[in-house]
Amino acid sequence: MRKNHLIDLNDLSKAQWEQIVELAIRISKSPEKYTEHCKNKIMATLFFEPSTRTQNSFQTAMLRLGGSIIGFDNPQNSSVSKGESLADTIRIMSSYADIIAMRHPTEGSALASAQYSSCPLINAGDGGHLHPTQTLTDLVTLANELGDLNHITIGFCGDLKNGRTVHSLIKALSVYQQTHFVLISTDELTLPQRFKDIITASGCTYKEVYTLEEAIGSLDVLYMTRIQRERFSSMELYESQKNVYVLDTEKLKLARPDLKILHPLPRVDEITTEVDDDPRALYFKQAKYGVYARMALIITLINSNSHEAVLKGEALNGHHCANPHCITNAETYLKQSFLSDGETVFCEYCDAPIK
Ligand code: NCD
Repeated sequence: MRKNHLIDLNDLSKAQWEQIVELAIRISKSPEKYTEHCKNKIMATLFFEPSTRTQNSFQTAMLRLGGSIIGFDNPQNSSVSKGESLADTIRIMSSYADIIAMRHPTEGSALASAQYSSCPLINAGDGGHLHPTQTLTDLVTLANELGDLNHITIGFCGDLKNGRTVHSLIKALSVYQQTHFVLISTDELTLPQRFKDIITASGCTYKEVYTLEEAIGSLDVLYMTRIQRERFSSMELYESQKNVYVLDTEKLKLARPDLKILHPLPRVDEITTEVDDDPRALYFKQAKYGVYARMALIITLINSNSHEAVLKGEALNGHHCANPHCITNAETYLKQSFLSDGETVFCEYCDAPIK
């Protein structure tokens, strides 16, 4: 863990995140036992990007734990619109709240903010980079539905390039034994090389395919995703990608009877509404697990006393991250910081490899 923050689920050991998953499952069975766990505590939800589930499930989680909430969901109503830096916003909000959940459109913004936060800070999505609390939600769902998370074959379909939920879940499932990833995407939206390297380095395997039909029959889990319109530089490219993958009842005939269909939601057109009635469709149930996952996470972080460093990498003699979407290029006072996995050197904030 980086101090008592949650920036990337893989900052925790597998044993640590499994404890959170187990707590979430216990809470789901008797939520009435947890109504006082955050009495007199305040959560700030700082949403610089739109959200339905993540923001409201954090707020529901805190209220169900007996706490209160402050924050904003439109940065135009905060001093950010007057030009306040992210660092100053976080310094102030962490002096008001006991825990922060933040979503921001820029990659690495959560790690940047954690350096200025005097209370636990949770990454509720940092641009196209990571979304660790969706991953916790996904793990709670899979643990409940499958039991054992080892030896699974999981297909990821759609926008694997920009989908932060995909990146986070791939990192987490790479820690389990013999996960086989089937990456279903067009050439334009393939998984970034850095995440493929993580799969290979962990001893898991992947294959890349173009059609859902050729993959679906072999899967234990299918993780459908939305094409992330807001992350495209050209609407023309978005238009060419948006309807390539549609899961419908015809394609489901090729799937196993025990397939688990997940989707972080929101859905646009990539799953037809008839599929909702299929017992294999778990995405609405999955959204509900998100509240229990976040309740468990809040309890864990509020009671944590980790003293680990927030920033673990180092500056590389004047080198700057070349990713235009990285927070270090927007908030230029931030320290540059790079890590190495032995083969690749990458920006600690956004994971982009240096060339
Ligand atoms: C996802 C997100 O925001 O990344 N939604 C969510 O948090 N459940 C997925 C998406 O927006 O497509």
